[in-house]
Amino acid sequence: MTEAVSFPQDRTCPYHPPTDYQPLREAGPLSHVTFYDGRSVWAVTGHAEARALLADPRLSADRQNPAFPIPVERFADASRRIRTPLIGVDDPEHNTQRRMLIPSFSLKRTIALRPEIQRIVDDLLDRMLAQGPPAELVSAFALPVPSMVICSLLGVPYADHEFFEEQSRRALRGRTADEAEDARRKLEDYFTELIARKERERGDGLLDELVEDQLRTGSLEREDLVRMAMILLVAGHETTANMISLGTFTLLEHPEQLAKLRADESLVPAAVEELLRFLSIADGMLRVATEDIEIGGRTIRADDGVVFPTSLINRDDTAYPSPDALDLGRAARHHVAFGFGIHQCLGQNLARAEMEIALRSLFRRIPDLRLAVPAAEIPFKPGDTLQGMIELPLAW
Ligand code: HEM
Repeated sequence: MTEAVSFPQDRTCPYHPPTDYQPLREAGPLSHVTFYDGRSVWAVTGHAEARALLADPRLSADRQNPAFPIPVERFADASRRIRTPLIGVDDPEHNTQRRMLIPSFSLKRTIALRPEIQRIVDDLLDRMLAQGPPAELVSAFALPVPSMVICSLLGVPYADHEFFEEQSRRALRGRTADEAEDARRKLEDYFTELIARKERERGDGLLDELVEDQLRTGSLEREDLVRMAMILLVAGHETTANMISLGTFTLLEHPEQLAKLRADESLVPAAVEELLRFLSIADGMLRVATEDIEIGGRTIRADDGVVFPTSLINRDDTAYPSPDALDLGRAARHHVAFGFGIHQCLGQNLARAEMEIALRSLFRRIPDLRLAVPAAEIPFKPGDTLQGMIELPLAW
C-alpha cells in the first residue's frame, strides 16, 4: 500500500505531472488517491490498463449516479443535479447524441476548415506583430484562434466572445460553487436565447442544423440541445487554447527540440502528438464502476470511483521509452490525451488542425520568439482545472 496521495494537486512545473504523484507511478498500474471529501478512489496509471478500462462498458460516465466521483468540491452539487449530455451519459443514449455531431467533426470537414483556420491565424499574427513586441499570447492568439473557429462552426456570434470566455473561465475556475453555478446559468440563458433566435431565423452553423434536424423533429430535447451547445463551446475553445499556450511555453523551454521543428516543418504533426502526450492538459478523466471488474489481479468493485490521470498514463515507461523527455520525433500517437473508448474527444481532428496551423505559423512568422520574463514568473493554471498558461508574455 502506498501512502494516501491527494487528488488533484497543482503542478510544480506547468508541463510535468505534480511531483507528489510520484508514489502513484511507483505503485502503478492501479493504486488509490484521496479526494477533498476523504473518499478513496482508484487511480489508473498504466497505459494498457487505462485503455482497457476506458473501453469497458462496466465503467460509467453518468455523473448523476450518486457514487460518481467528483474530485473538486465546487463542482459536486451541480454535477449531480444537472444531466450532462454526451460526456455524462452512457450508451445507448450517448451513441444517439454523438451520431448527431460526428459529421461536423469528421476528418473531411476538418480538412475543409483548414483554409479558414489559416486565415484566422494569419490575421491574429498580423495584428500581434503590428502591435508588439511584447505580446501576451493567451489573449492575443491562443484563446482567439479556437474561439473564432468554434464560433464559426457552431454558428455562435464571435462578437459575444468576451461574455462567453469570461463565463467559461468562471465556470471552470471560479473560486466558489456559487460563482461556477452563476456562470453556468448565464451560459445556459445565453444559449437558450440563441437557440430560440435560430428557430425564428435559420443561420449557418452546426447549432442551426441541430435545431432543424433534431429539435424540430423531437429527437433532441431543448434542454439537452442547450447543454450540448455549452459543452461544445467550452470544450471547443478552452482546451485547444491551453494546448497552444502551454505548447508554445514548452517549446521555448526546450530550444533543442524547437530547433529541430524549425529545421523541418514536416515534423509538426508528430510534434503536436508529442505535445499532447507530454502536456496531458485534461489530467483526470472520471468514471464509476457499475459492476465488479477484475484487472491486473485487482478487483474494482461496483460503485468504486476511478480516476485516469492522463499525465501519468501518458508517461508509463512500458509504453514510452524515457517518458519524461520531450521528443518531437517519437511516435506518440497512441497517447490518451484525448481519452479512449466511446467518449474519446469528438473534436480531436479539429484540435489537431488548429494546433498544427497555430504552432507552425507562430514559429515561422516569428523566428526569434522568446519569453518576455523569466519562466518561473509566468502564471499557470491550478491542478483542479484544465492545465495551461494563465498568461504568456512574449517578446521577439
Ligand atoms: C487539444 C485540445 C483538446 C483536448 C486535450 C481534449 C480532451 C478531451 C478528453 C480527454 C475527452 C474525454 C473525456 C472523458 O472521456 O471523460 C474529450 C471529450 C470531448 N471533447 Fe475534447 N479535447 C480537446 C479539444 C476539443 C475540441 C476542439 C472540441 C470541439 C468541440 C472538443 C469536444 C469534446 C467533446 C464534445 C467531448 C465529449 C465526447 C463524448 O463524450 O462522446 N474537444 N476531450
